[in-house]
Amino acid sequence: MSGKKRLLTGLQPSGTLHIGNYFGALKPFVDQYKDSESFLMVVDYHSLTSLKDPAQLRQNIIEVVKDYVAAGVDPSQAVIFKQSDVLEHMELAWILECLIPVSYLEKAVAYKDKVAKGLEANAGLFNYPILMAADILLYDTEVVPVGSDQKQHVEYAREAAAKFNTAYGKTFIEPQEKIVEGVGVVPGTDGKKMSKSYGNTIPLFGTKEEITKAVMCIVTDSSGERPENVYQIHKLFKSEAELAALYEEKKGKYKDLKEALAADIESFIAPMRAKRDAITDEDVKQILKDGAEKARAMASLKMADVRTKVGVTL
Ligand code: TRP
Repeated sequence: MSGKKRLLTGLQPSGTLHIGNYFGALKPFVDQYKDSESFLMVVDYHSLTSLKDPAQLRQNIIEVVKDYVAAGVDPSQAVIFKQSDVLEHMELAWILECLIPVSYLEKAVAYKDKVAKGLEANAGLFNYPILMAADILLYDTEVVPVGSDQKQHVEYAREAAAKFNTAYGKTFIEPQEKIVEGVGVVPGTDGKKMSKSYGNTIPLFGTKEEITKAVMCIVTDSSGERPENVYQIHKLFKSEAELAALYEEKKGKYKDLKEALAADIESFIAPMRAKRDAITDEDVKQILKDGAEKARAMASLKMADVRTKVGVTL
C-alpha cells in the first residue's frame, strides 16, 4: 500500500448544492483527498430513513456524484461508490447492533434533533449511527472527514470498534474524525447562515440567471459604509485587497456591487458547470460500478474475518 492514511466519508444524496456547501464541505475535501487513500461513498441506505421517493433517490444519487466530480474529485484517485452496492455494510451493521446498548444510542444528538424537528422516529433513524459505524469500520478507515455535526457519530464508530475488539479480539481500527471547517459560516442572501431550510441560498451549479437572481435578492441595509451581506459573500470569490478598490469606487452603489458579485460568481462557477454538464448519467454509473468492485473486494475480505470471529462460519 501507499503508506497514505485511509480516509472515508459519506455523502448524503440530498439534492441541489449551494455555494455554502461548496466552501464548507466540497472544496475542503477536494483540496485534501489526494493526501490520503480516499473513499467517497454515497449513503443511499442512510437516506431511506427520510426519503421515500424512489425516482427522487435515483436522481439524487446521480446528482451527488456529478457534483463531486465537477467540483474536482478525480474518480481515478478516489474510490467512489454507493453503499447499497456493498451488501456487507448491512451485514456488519447487524453484528454491531448486537453489541451496542439501546441506552447509548438514545444519547445521539442528531437523532434527538431530527425527532424534535418532527421527523418520524423509525428504527432506521435510531440505528443510523450503527450503519455509519459499519461504513467506516469495514474499510479499516483511519480518518473520517465530516462536519462538526457528525463528530458524535464518529465517536459511535470508535465505540463500536472497541466493543467488537474486546468481545472477539482485535479486528477493527478505531477511526478519528477530521472536522471539515471550510471557510467558516457562509452567509446566505439574508445574512444568516446559508441553508436550504432558510431559503437564502445561491445555487452552486445554477444557471447564470438563477445566480444573478439570487444575488440581486441579497438583503442590504444602508447603515454601514458597504453592503455587508454582499461583501461577505464576495470575499469568498476575491481577495479583500482586490475588493477594496471596487468597494471604494462603488461606494453606496449597491446595485453595481451586486452585479459585480454576480459576475464574479459566474466566472468562478462557469467552468465547473461546463464540466458537470459534460458528465452523463452513464459516466456516473460506470464510476460507481468501478468503485463498487474495489470496495466490495475489501469489504468481503473483512467480513470473512468478522464472520469467523463471531462464530457463524463453520
Ligand atoms: N451521517 C453522515 C452525514 O449526514 C453521512 C455518513 C454516512 C457518513 N456514513 C458515513 C460520513 C461514513 C462519514 C463516514 O453527513
